[in-house]
Amino acid sequence: MKKYAILCSGGDCQGMNACIKAFVNTCNAHGHKPVGILRGYQGLIDNEFIDLTDDMVENIANIGGTIIKTSRSDEFKTPVGFQKALKNLKKHNIDSLVILGGDGSFRGAADLHKSGIKVICIPSTIDNDLFFTDNTLGFDTAVMNAVSAIDNIKQTMSATDKAMIIELMGRNCGDIALYTALVIGADSVALAEVDTKIKDIINDISLSIERGCKSPVIIMSEAVDYSIKDVEKAIQKHLGLDVRSSELGYIQRGGAPSLLDRMLAVEFAVRAFMLLSEGKSGLALGVDDNFVFDIPIEEANQAPKRFRKDLLKKLYILKNRIN
Ligand code: F6P
Repeated sequence: MKKYAILCSGGDCQGMNACIKAFVNTCNAHGHKPVGILRGYQGLIDNEFIDLTDDMVENIANIGGTIIKTSRSDEFKTPVGFQKALKNLKKHNIDSLVILGGDGSFRGAADLHKSGIKVICIPSTIDNDLFFTDNTLGFDTAVMNAVSAIDNIKQTMSATDKAMIIELMGRNCGDIALYTALVIGADSVALAEVDTKIKDIINDISLSIERGCKSPVIIMSEAVDYSIKDVEKAIQKHLGLDVRSSELGYIQRGGAPSLLDRMLAVEFAVRAFMLLSEGKSGLALGVDDNFVFDIPIEEANQAPKRFRKDLLKKLYILKNRIN
């Protein structure tokens, strides 16, 4: 019997619990012992290890967050913290670890791999900012949540002919904003990737109004360098519209995972277990055209930033905008 550990690191995302459940079930089905490390890399340092049973994970697949908690650990980046983490892994006789997280977590994973721990990384962040993979765990659900919330907000805004500005998460990546804007047919989308200026938003909205739109929708990525209030003021000043703005916030990160995220979660968990049981290490899992693949973590970390220009172009065609 071997011990296989799992931890979540960085921001949580939907699908983490589904992935934990599938990993725990797979370990137990093969007669191995699954161990959960609480609060990510910080839990490695603070010696927070727990045994995970099938019973504990029975009903967690459809719940957001993560039952083993997560954190962003600065201490793990220090040589002292890192050595404490290694010492605790050895103390618990663990040499195989699955890490769910984003880019910062992948860097920590690469260091553990170099120190002799067998590590497999699962791309888990709502931001979709790991560019070696088509999709990260949680992204699909975050877009689904944003679309559903905006559908609701649109109903009340259009009842009183108001414009609306919604800021969406994604840290340095505009994917949640871009995909959501296309799905709802936004009148304008502000993205750092194409350096959208406030004057571009005003032009987009003027066009929509000329065509009879009474309640235009502006989607803003949190990565742009102005605020929803700046845009609100500009719209009032240049177009005289009644406008409301809102940061959608953590509603994007909570709640039940979508079917796609649950599917990804299970596929990733089983693949991670298979790789570890074959003695493989230093690999990150990704998805390409619906198929799960693995590549060295270092390679995953160096993937160049990609931007789905084709999706933006489709929004421009939908709205008959010149790009
Ligand atoms: O990385 C996920 C994310 O939700 C980003 O979209 C957002 O910028 C950030 O985390 C928020 O961080 P925190 O959870 O620490 O407030």
